[in-house]
Amino acid sequence: MIILKDKTMSKKEIQSVDYGLEKIFAGAQDFLPLLGTDYIEFYVGNAKQSAHFYKTAFGFQSLAYKGLETGSRDSVSYVLVQDKIRLILTTPLNSKSPINEHIVKHGDGVKVIALWVEDARKAYEETTSRGAKSYLEPVVEKDGHGEVVRAGIYTYGETVHMFIERKNYTGAFLPGFKEWKSDYNPEPVGLKYIDHMVGNVDWNQMNTWVKWYEDVMGFENFLSFDDNQIHTEYSALMSKVMSNGNGRIKFPINEPAKAAKKSQIEEYLDFYEGSGVQHIAVATDDVIKTVAQLKARGVEFLPPPPQEYYDGIPERLGKHRDMMKEDIKELQKLSILVDADEEGYLLQIFTKPIEDRPTLFFEIIQRMGARGFGAGNFKALFESIEREQENRGTL
Ligand code: FE2
Repeated sequence: MIILKDKTMSKKEIQSVDYGLEKIFAGAQDFLPLLGTDYIEFYVGNAKQSAHFYKTAFGFQSLAYKGLETGSRDSVSYVLVQDKIRLILTTPLNSKSPINEHIVKHGDGVKVIALWVEDARKAYEETTSRGAKSYLEPVVEKDGHGEVVRAGIYTYGETVHMFIERKNYTGAFLPGFKEWKSDYNPEPVGLKYIDHMVGNVDWNQMNTWVKWYEDVMGFENFLSFDDNQIHTEYSALMSKVMSNGNGRIKFPINEPAKAAKKSQIEEYLDFYEGSGVQHIAVATDDVIKTVAQLKARGVEFLPPPPQEYYDGIPERLGKHRDMMKEDIKELQKLSILVDADEEGYLLQIFTKPIEDRPTLFFEIIQRMGARGFGAGNFKALFESIEREQENRGTL
C-alpha cells in the first residue's frame, strides 16, 4: 500500500500542499538547506567516449573540461550541461589513481551526487556532527572568477554527497576547469532538471538509510511502498522516498524483497557489487518530443507493456481523464507509461541500462500535477524488466 507519511497533517498544512511540495515541511527546522542538485559525477572507463555518447544520444552540451592540458595529471573530466542538469564524466589517467578501484569494482557508475548549498562548511559540520562519514573536509578553490567551497560526505555504498557553495563564483563550472568549446553540438532534447535519483541498497538496509537521511540530512520520508505494492509474479522490492525540507531533492531508496525469483534490485546489487545509484529521473515538458528524439538518436528503452495496459489508461487516469492532452496511441507507439494520483497525472519511460553491466539507467518524466513516482506502473514496468532479465539469464 501507499503510505503518505504526512497523512496526519493539519488542515492548514493540507492547504499548503496546494502551493507545492515546498510548503509541506515548512514547519520543520531545516538545518541543511539545499538549493538544488549541483551536478552528478560518473566514474567511467573512457570519459572522452562517454561524453560523446551523452552529447550525441541525450543532447547534452559541452560546458567545461579538465585534463592534462589544464594541469590535471591523474584524471580527466568532461562537464556536460542541459538546462539545469550538469553531468561530469571522469576517467583516471594512470593505474595509480584510486578512481580505478571504483571502476574495477562497480563498472561505470555514479560516484558523486553534488548538492548546491549556501554554506558548504556549515553543511559539512551539520552532517558530520550527526554521524556522516567524511569524504572531503571543506576546501576553498579559487581562480580568476572567484572562489568555490566544496566538502563531501559518504552516503550508501561508495557514493558521495558533495556540498558546493558557489555564491562567490562566476566561472563556467568550478576552479580547475576550463570552458569547453566544441565544434560538435547536437541539439538538446528538452531535458530540464533532475526530478529524483534512486539508490539501491542491500538486503534489510532500506530503513537504515531512511534513518540516515532523516538524522544526518534532515530529510523526511515522503512516500513508502512495500513489497505487497511492488511485486510481480516473480519478484518484489520495497521503496521509501526521502525528500529534503524544500522538496527540491528527492531520493527514493530501494531494497530487494524475498520472492520466487531474483528481483531487479538483486541483479543490480550483484553487478554493481554493492549499493549505488540505480536510476536518474530527468524531467521534460514534452515527453513525446523528448522520447521521439532520444529514440531517433539510438537511446534504448524498455519494451512496451501489453495492449491491455494502454486500454486501461482512461480508467487509471480517473478524474484526470479529461485533463490529458496526449494521444494514447502516440504514447503507446513510443512505449510511454501513464500514472495518476490525487493531484494529477504523469508520463514516464525508462531506458535500458546505459552501460554493459545491468546497473544504472535513466527515467524520463513529465509531471502534469502528479507528485508520485508512477506506483500504478510498477507492475508493468517490472514485468518489462523481468523480460530483459530473462534474456540476460539473471531472473
Ligand atoms: Fe523513478
